Amino acid sequence: MEDFLWWRDGVIYQIYPRSFADSNGDGLGDLTGIISRLDYLSNLGIDAIWLSPFYPTPDKDFGYDISNYVEVDPRFGSLADFDRLVAEAHQRGIRLILDLVLNHTSDQHPWFQESRSRRDNPKRDWYIWRDQPNNWQASFGGRAWEYDPATSQYYLHLFTKEQPDVNWRNPEVRKAQMDVFRFWMERGVDGFRLDVFNAYFKHPDLPDNPPRFGLRGFDRQRHIFDIDQPEMMPFLNEMRLLLDSHPERYAVGETYIATPQKTVSYCGPDKLHAAFSFDFTFMDLFYPIFPWNPRWVMEQVIKREETFNAANVWPTTVMSNHDLPRAASRYARGENDSQTFLAMTLLLTLRGTPFMYYGEEIGMRDIHLQRSEILDPPGKKYWPIYNGRDGCRSPMQWDDSIFGGFSTAKPWLPVHPNTLQRNVRSQQADPGSLFNFTKKLLALRKEIPALRGGDFVPLETPRGMLAYLRQTKGQSVLMALNFGRRKKKFSLPDGDWRMLLTTAKGSPGALTPYEIQMLILE
Ligand code: GLC
Repeated sequence: MEDFLWWRDGVIYQIYPRSFADSNGDGLGDLTGIISRLDYLSNLGIDAIWLSPFYPTPDKDFGYDISNYVEVDPRFGSLADFDRLVAEAHQRGIRLILDLVLNHTSDQHPWFQESRSRRDNPKRDWYIWRDQPNNWQASFGGRAWEYDPATSQYYLHLFTKEQPDVNWRNPEVRKAQMDVFRFWMERGVDGFRLDVFNAYFKHPDLPDNPPRFGLRGFDRQRHIFDIDQPEMMPFLNEMRLLLDSHPERYAVGETYIATPQKTVSYCGPDKLHAAFSFDFTFMDLFYPIFPWNPRWVMEQVIKREETFNAANVWPTTVMSNHDLPRAASRYARGENDSQTFLAMTLLLTLRGTPFMYYGEEIGMRDIHLQRSEILDPPGKKYWPIYNGRDGCRSPMQWDDSIFGGFSTAKPWLPVHPNTLQRNVRSQQADPGSLFNFTKKLLALRKEIPALRGGDFVPLETPRGMLAYLRQTKGQSVLMALNFGRRKKKFSLPDGDWRMLLTTAKGSPGALTPYEIQMLILE
């Protein structure tokens, strides 16, 4: 394991802090709650945590509207709790990645309060103010411009109107944002997830975006002037220099409506370490159809292998996050877990850094809310076509008690009623559970270098299944996944293949329904 590089070879586990563990009985998760579950995470076998925002926030976008970048919201704890979290995580060999939301602040951030107070305020230019709006649309619906009567101008917001975009072209803003990186690195943080980073810079003249075909306003334009501006690159160089001034720091970017080609262009030794390519998810709110079959999966993998290999960029694999219906809700029928095992296998054995979303290890499903219970802004706006992102943000299901062991009080979002059967405690006790399967896969990744760094080689199979090799010079591992309810047979490449793991009783190359096999070449 001497060449083990945590962000490349390890597995990163995303925690949505308000939903993971509540230590003080207010129905909202907190940092102390997370600390109390570090042993659980260490036992599961993950290598790093990505923490969604815990900073002070008026909750117009549930933490992604930040009113102070360098504090902890008192509902989640204090800076002292944060320091304890870093220390306790590091003690267990777990790294910590923070979510930095630097494209916009909350409208309650003191910077914006000053900026909006007068046209001649020194912070006026820290945001983007104009007499006349252009045609840009907010991704959560409606125009991207809000009229502010106090100074009779419009300000730009690519998300909700309570999330004004900062002006990254202003050198003071840029310096202030770099100080945010510094602040957290000095507190021991190992890396950052950069929220919608490719939207930081807008075209300086703010021209109208050209039209294209689409369903709603936001999709009816080509986003060529509001994102992906060339000024991004020098900024990434500057940021990388700062990260590299500390050992083994990492930055992963959340690409916002970007092609895989665009995504890799942001990564490299003097740019980001990685950026999400979202190969197995659909980010667009208005495509609620999720393809899920072996042929589609293989096409996606091959496309990304080509793009990332050509650019020599290390990929990431994402099946779920806090913005999407959970993989288990997209791909599985009801409580049946056969597809959930398949998705977990892909997540942990494709080439790239796996990002696991809390509860994915027990196959948590989305909750269903009545209209009146919806909290998420785009959900409120677009119901019933789209009911928002609350579904995937429900409390972690630790046990079968009334609030799922998450809290002693009524949680901020309901616990899924299936916590009666589907929870950490029951799955830990069941050798055939998704939890124990995930744990086994995580352990195998640690033992077998080919599973981490090996090349990806697709294999020919009959329809309805998928097989590939992960291969280094000295080691070959074969993965075979049967997606369907029929038996499948395929011919193994030459050699003596030994079964390392199977979810059923098939023999090498002969798979029973939904069986997953991992074989190693002796
Ligand atoms: C990112 C986040 C999402 C948030 C948005 C605005 O896409 O993942 O949760 O609403 O940015 O900050």
